[in-house]
Amino acid sequence: MLDLLIKNASLPDGRTDMSVAVQGGRITAVEPALNAPANEVVDAGGYLLSPHFVDPHFHMDATLSYGLPRVNESGTLLEGIALWGELKPTLKADAIIERALAYCDWAVAKGLLAIRSHVDTSDASLLAVDALLEVKKQVAHYIDLQLVAFPQDGVLRTKGGLDNIKRGLDKGVDVVGGIPHFERTMAEGAASVKLLCELAAERGKLVDMHCDESDDPLSRHIETLAFETQRLGLQGRVTGSHCTSMHSMDNYYASKLLPLIAESGVSVIANPLINITLQGRHDSYPKRRGMTRGPELMAAGVNVAFGHDCVMDPWYGMGSADMLEVAHMGLHVAQMTSQQGILDCFDAVTVNAAKVMHLKSYGLAVGCDASFVLLQARDKIEAIRLRANRLKVWKKGLLLAATPEVTTALRLPNRPSDTRFMK
Ligand code: FE2
Repeated sequence: MLDLLIKNASLPDGRTDMSVAVQGGRITAVEPALNAPANEVVDAGGYLLSPHFVDPHFHMDATLSYGLPRVNESGTLLEGIALWGELKPTLKADAIIERALAYCDWAVAKGLLAIRSHVDTSDASLLAVDALLEVKKQVAHYIDLQLVAFPQDGVLRTKGGLDNIKRGLDKGVDVVGGIPHFERTMAEGAASVKLLCELAAERGKLVDMHCDESDDPLSRHIETLAFETQRLGLQGRVTGSHCTSMHSMDNYYASKLLPLIAESGVSVIANPLINITLQGRHDSYPKRRGMTRGPELMAAGVNVAFGHDCVMDPWYGMGSADMLEVAHMGLHVAQMTSQQGILDCFDAVTVNAAKVMHLKSYGLAVGCDASFVLLQARDKIEAIRLRANRLKVWKKGLLLAATPEVTTALRLPNRPSDTRFMK
């Protein structure tokens, strides 16, 4: 007897009328029109069953703090960092935990069941680290929360910065972070990349650095990150986040850089909602979009994922844990409007992001965890176009969230029927 049988589902690879069987939290069969006894049978009605969404870049210690102690008037990255600096001394662990848990509830409702969150290690108290480790423990049954030790104020600019990161790792933080473009000089930035990659190699950790989140075309720390990845044998374990300077780089240099990134196996994360709002702020017109070269990186063979980065915090006052909104914005900003481009945007918030996080047992194949979302859309393209309703969300076969199918009743004068229903 199966625990769960989902019938008549469309799958991300384009197959329709498929059945997915679940036993003991894992997928045991993916076959056309399967009939087998099950404790629960769900008719997917032809809608898309997708592996759950994955956010590979977020800041859960700052989320839902919008307006505390004031809003970011200029909308710049630097005012956001300054504002976060004002807020930090007033932070209490309980309040961070409460806001993070509230955000995790939003995430589950949106089918977002894996999140990589940076956590600021600049303060020697490691208050935010302790708070998010507690959150990680509390949500472990429903969200894979991976934490990155993130020296927001610069590992070399902060007294004791490296020691704080090491202590964060000792406490259970998973990934080594960095912010080379925020160090005092280009040379210090490069030195920070080297130092932090060496630490990751020594500790057997993954790396994810905020890298070149700037409109400065000469901010080239991604080059050093790719080099150190190769030198230390960290291929496949390193990610460069943001990489917005690549938007402004000279095309000739970019033509050298992209193959170097591909060769190093470094993944790149764009954060479309944040990049389009924070970058280009020093421009008059035309204003740069500021997002990294997503399609070109993908074409070069680089694993590219999209992150949400911020929701209602000092840097961004919008957001709702909706990774389809992220994909939708990424599609527009990067002009990924071809059929393949749209499909690539869907992958950027699912399989590519799962690859960044090294998620095991992710996907819709036999043996994978039965952790998926049923969307009110027929395929991946419609899912992004509609930022589709999440009808049901399962984690290891357990139903975590359900939202009724949305229909709109139209009553139009001078039309044949009185009421028309539109999904
Ligand atoms: Fe970030």
